[in-house]
Parts: sequence; C-alpha cells; structure tokens
Amino acid sequence: MVNSYKAAPDIEVLTSNFPIPGYGLLPINAFVLKAKEPLLVDTGYTLENAEFMDTLRSVIDPKHLKWIWLTHTDHDHIGSLHQLLDEVPDLRVITTFLAVGKMSLHNPLPMDRLYFLNPGESMSIGDRTLTAVKPPSFDAPETTGFYDDRSGAFFSSDCFGALMPSSPGQSAADIPEQELKEGQTLWATIDAPWLQKVDRGLFAAELKKIGRMEPKVVLSSHLPAADGRMTQRLLDTLASAPQAQTFVGPDQEGLQAMLAQMTG
Ligand SMILES: [Fe+2]
Ligand SMILES: [Fe+2]
Repeated sequence: MVNSYKAAPDIEVLTSNFPIPGYGLLPINAFVLKAKEPLLVDTGYTLENAEFMDTLRSVIDPKHLKWIWLTHTDHDHIGSLHQLLDEVPDLRVITTFLAVGKMSLHNPLPMDRLYFLNPGESMSIGDRTLTAVKPPSFDAPETTGFYDDRSGAFFSSDCFGALMPSSPGQSAADIPEQELKEGQTLWATIDAPWLQKVDRGLFAAELKKIGRMEPKVVLSSHLPAADGRMTQRLLDTLASAPQAQTFVGPDQEGLQAMLAQMTG
C-alpha cells in the first residue's frame, strides 16, 4: 500500500513499507517537491507501480510534473519511471551519466529527455536551486542526492535509511531512539557493507559536510521524514556503523526453515 503525507508545506512523501522476512519493514519513499517546476524524487518500486501511480495522482496531476530526480537505478527507485515518461511528454529526468548507462542495460532512457547533474553542480527549477550531493553512504555508484535551498530539505537517497520492527509512521522523531539507532545501523551494514573498509577520518569528514549543510529536514528514501534537529543523531549513528557487526544473510539452513514455515 502506498500512502502519502506532508513533510513540509511544499513536500509530499509517497511511502510504502516493504517487508523483509526476519528483519522487519523497509520504508520505500518517493517525494513530490511542489516547486514552480514540480519535481518527483524517485518513482517507487517496480512491483507496486499501479498503486504508486494512484497515490501520486492523489497529490499532483502527473502532467504538471516537469522533472524526475532519479537518485539511482535500483528497483525500489525506478518503479514508475517509464510509465511517467510515456504519460508526460515534456517530463525530463535529472540524473547522472552512470545512472543512464545502467538503465541502458535493461530499459534505456530517452537521451533527449535527460539533464545531467554531477555532485557539486546546481540547477534552478524556477523558484529554488537544487545542488547535487554525493551522500556519505550509498549502495550504487551513481547515487546522487540533493539539497533544496528553498525548503532546506536534504534528499539523501538510501543514506540514513532504517529497517523497522513495525510500521514507522510519518516522523523519524516518533521512533524510540534505540530502535532507530539499531534499525539505521542494520540498514547501513546491508546497504553499504564497504563502510567497514573506509578510512574513519575520511568518512568523518564526509559526515561533517552534511552537518554543515544544516538541513531543515532530512528526507531519506528509507526513513520517515526526519526533522533537521535530528541530523546530528543520524550522522552519529552512521559514524558508528563501520564498527557494527557485518551483515550475513540466512544460509541454506535458514532458507529451509523459511520454506518449512511457508509450507506449514
Ligand atoms: Fe539502493
Ligand atoms: Fe533504495
């Protein structure tokens, strides 16, 4: 089920909870930024395309969208991408060369409808400037989030996501502190196992850059909207993720137990 809620006067969150057996629920978010040139950040997950489109239509007429910001090409971000490009002839996709290259392996994007924006570069969408940001943690090399100077929102893609024991609602601040820390740490070890191999000093410098941004709200693809006053807590949890236990998925014995459970 895809629901929507407001994270700021000009930002709607389209959210769904994806169950991961044995580990909890992963929120999957896309965002409608009601700018002068309206923008959709990512497009839901592939199997939920029809529901995603229904919920999107309840917050904006897709024909009014001018832009899609594609953070990266994982299937929890590209669900309705091609349907939207088919339905809205003027819609263009802001993304990177690498994202387009990866899409070309299975569902190419029309080259004349792209806008390439690399980390550090900015563009105007009428009433605000978006600056592309490489988040400190990610699971795909093309990942690019952004900072919106009008709303003060940082769209962080997979970074700061958290696996939740139950449906997490609409605000990260409502999640008990320990539950959020554990869920965020688990997600970081799954999404970015390479964090354990990075130089801690260099990683700390990357985290500091986000702190200096002082976002009013942090909008992760996999966490309820987080008030900017939580930013330092989210950064501190991520800073400790490299020391966390390595994630190892269920082995064959685990799979057999799952199959036995499914067949009763
Ligand atoms: Fe991802
Ligand atoms: Fe994701």
